[in-house]
Amino acid sequence: MKYFVANWKTYKSLSEAETWIDSFIGKIRADQQLLDRLNRDEVKIIVCPPFPLLYPLKKKITEKNLLLGAQNISHFDEGPYTGEVSGKNLQGIADYVIVGHSERRRYFGESDEILTKKINLSLKYGLQPIFCLDNANQPIPNEVKIIAYEPTKAIGTGDNEPVENVLSFKKSLDFKSTAIFLYGGSVNENNARDYLSQPEINGFLISTASLDALSFYNIVSLV
Ligand code: PGA
Repeated sequence: MKYFVANWKTYKSLSEAETWIDSFIGKIRADQQLLDRLNRDEVKIIVCPPFPLLYPLKKKITEKNLLLGAQNISHFDEGPYTGEVSGKNLQGIADYVIVGHSERRRYFGESDEILTKKINLSLKYGLQPIFCLDNANQPIPNEVKIIAYEPTKAIGTGDNEPVENVLSFKKSLDFKSTAIFLYGGSVNENNARDYLSQPEINGFLISTASLDALSFYNIVSLV
């Protein structure tokens, strides 16, 4: 199984998001080989738009293994926390949630303790966390099943981490070998094949190259 996770960050209006999903679904429907792979559980595509765009996208998606993820979850459960989005709010809308992205750690001060709360609340509400880390010293909560290695210097810079370094990072992790291991950081249609050919790398977390439906489709269709 290969995973292709699109992280839109705070990009896109409602109409841009709808145009993206229409054109992406159009590409998938015209690609019988990819449809077969989705149907055989060989490929999973997870689109993570900003919160308000989750539901409008959900209404348009019918394909198996084309799924939605949130980019964040509150570390509080439902309650008097104005402006937060709880796991319960996301239930039935998203299937996955990105936790521990370096931008959350850096700009929003998310500590290991907060991230552990987020993991627990994700699981409580049936959301599968995609746990990001940019170095091997960051603790990985035990319950995590999907890890995304995203070295900060590779994010949005065009300076993707060489495949050998990604593989040796994975080896250095003191974590269960059954976890799904993704790479993120300047993945694009020109470099994706190098990672995809490695059985040890189970897919990608992609931002910049996911913002354009055709570029993202071009990466997914390399599988
Ligand atoms: P990038 O970002 O694909 O633009 O490098 C990856 C990420 O931040 O998840």
